[in-house]
Amino acid sequence: MARWQSWESSYCEVDAALLIASQPSSDLPDRGGWIQLAIRHAATRDLYGDIAIHVIDDQPDTFEIGVTLAPAAQGRGIGTEAVGGVLSYLFDEAGAHRVVAFCDARNEPVARLLRRVGMRHESHQLDADFFKGEWSTLDGYAVLERER
Ligand SMILES: CC(C)(COP(=O)(O)OP(=O)(O)OC[C@H]1O[C@@H](n2cnc3c(N)ncnc32)[C@H](O)[C@@H]1OP(=O)(O)O)[C@@H](O)C(=O)NCCC(=O)NCCS
Repeated sequence: MARWQSWESSYCEVDAALLIASQPSSDLPDRGGWIQLAIRHAATRDLYGDIAIHVIDDQPDTFEIGVTLAPAAQGRGIGTEAVGGVLSYLFDEAGAHRVVAFCDARNEPVARLLRRVGMRHESHQLDADFFKGEWSTLDGYAVLERER
């Protein structure tokens, strides 16, 4: 789950409790902030993963998203459905102009997911991020309100 992400899989329950306690109570955080949304089964409420939304500070109506699914929830289309729902919310209700996502260029599953929901591959930044002892090349994806 954490292979292509900056956090470690040793992330513990106390870390999780602190993260939950730090979440904004509004639907979206203030500019510059992040919110983690749970991905759950609508009926059973089983927890599948999360989607993070970042309200970009230096441009209006611009959001960054990230998605993680538990291994047992992968390969079933759950991520695509959840990210699609978040994009609909951001464009149709939150007034988004542009939504972006960044991932390690070796992370093929997330690249397929982002393309499936209609995001364009628009950047390839060599050695743009250093984590877990190595440089990571970042691919950027984006979709504009007028492209939907
Ligand atoms: C990124 C991540 C969420 C993608 O998960 P995923 O399971 O591939 O994505 P989805 O839930 O949308 O499932 C789509 C896959 O299920 C398959 N699938 C099976 N049944 C399906 C169904 N009924 N409907 C839709 N897709 C289905 C699709 O073919 C697709 O597989 P493919 O990409 O091999 O073609 C997952 O790999 C992950 O959590 N990775 C670790 C965290 C991470 O790296 N996040 C990115 C940080 S930027």
